[in-house]
Amino acid sequence: MTPAHDANAALTRRDLQHIWHPCTQMHDHEQVPLVPIVRGEGVWLIDADGRRYLDGISSWWTNLFGHANPRIAAGLAEQARTLEHVIFAGFTHPPAIELAEQLVQITPAGLDKVFFADNGSAAVEVALKMSFHYWLNQGHGEKTRFIALSGSYHGETLGALSVSDVALYRKTYAPLLLTPILAPSPDAYEGEPGESPEQTAARRLEAMRALLERHAHETCAVIVEPLVQCAGGMRMYHPSYLTGLRALCDQYQVHFIADEIAVGFGRTGTMFACEQAQVAPDFMCLSKGLTGGTLPLSAVLTTEHVYAAFYAEYSAGKAFLHSHSYTGNPLACRAALETLAIFRDEPVLERNRALSAHLAKALAPLRAHPHVADVRQHGMIAAVELVADKTTRRPFPAAERRGMHVYLHGLQHGALLRPLGNIVYFMPPYVITEAQIDQLVQVASDGITLAVKA
Ligand SMILES: Cc1ncc(COP(=O)(O)O)c(C=O)c1O
Repeated sequence: MTPAHDANAALTRRDLQHIWHPCTQMHDHEQVPLVPIVRGEGVWLIDADGRRYLDGISSWWTNLFGHANPRIAAGLAEQARTLEHVIFAGFTHPPAIELAEQLVQITPAGLDKVFFADNGSAAVEVALKMSFHYWLNQGHGEKTRFIALSGSYHGETLGALSVSDVALYRKTYAPLLLTPILAPSPDAYEGEPGESPEQTAARRLEAMRALLERHAHETCAVIVEPLVQCAGGMRMYHPSYLTGLRALCDQYQVHFIADEIAVGFGRTGTMFACEQAQVAPDFMCLSKGLTGGTLPLSAVLTTEHVYAAFYAEYSAGKAFLHSHSYTGNPLACRAALETLAIFRDEPVLERNRALSAHLAKALAPLRAHPHVADVRQHGMIAAVELVADKTTRRPFPAAERRGMHVYLHGLQHGALLRPLGNIVYFMPPYVITEAQIDQLVQVASDGITLAVKA
């Protein structure tokens, strides 16, 4: 038997023998510990040696109602005994039907058709292909391009990566990617001095208008992350940008794809971020919180109008061409149904309003920190931007990996914080308490103090 305090080391050794982890320079694990988690409980992740970590980032922004949530677990157990999986072409099943009905009910009006896939990137692929194919079916095969925002992130399969603007990834995989048209982001942090977030949004809408004027004839869709560009550094913008973008997409006859994979299901304060701009996109991509963070599942919602462009005799060759073996997996759909039931039965958004107000209060003192240029928040997402020089907002060089110090400090003090470069952010499960928010912010603040000195 491995002594309890050596269990982490034993699992780590076995892991590193064979496993290649995502988003990781594996060499880092010569210094950075790998953390073997054996159990989850609410906001807590518990490692093999019994140490507990407060999951401040909802395990890559997926978890809503705590790890090993009893209600979701019970639903899954029952579903596993009933129907674990069935081919989704030619066959269907009650959990997928119920889930589609409920998603249509809770998403903005007009999104009446649901196409399932099994992760966020796959949903983005579906939306891009569906938009392109819609135009093709309408006799507009010349529309082959997409407009994305600077600083955007939509996933890492080739199509999704093509419409993402993460410098390192784009540079590395450039020869394999489509060439999107990049529009400047309405990111309020990048606003002109003295400009309000609304004014920044208006100025960036004019840039979008100019691009559409030039490129609409060859453009299928504009794809955006509504309100918060998450992987790009939790950069936030004013909802009026989405309202204006909807009008521009209508005017220039291009689709509007809302990637709500990270911001959907209550993250920004409303069930979907688009609600804050009172817009309905042509395509809405959902994943992550869809299953409460238990199983991979994604969905693309679209309109009857888009659906109708594919609906024809088989011989017309208009059918949408996309499938995954695990499309509409019953277990994942059941987890999603339990998640939506929690939203119905509990005052989740109301509770989140109180929690996000508390988070704002806890973070406020950091605004005065000599190396903090910005503290921003949209509902249950908050971010602290660390800089080398507060006056000029000169960033710390990326190579200094300041955020890594915060990450390591977090691990040593019972918190999972995983800064994006120099941006320390908080995106906790909705079951976090005010005391746990205070704890998380304290660990982050101490970590920041160490990181900026390092
Ligand atoms: C906005 C957004 N779109 C798409 C994705 C990709 O989702 P997945 O990691 O499930 O492929 C992510 C993942 O972080 C995301 O934040």
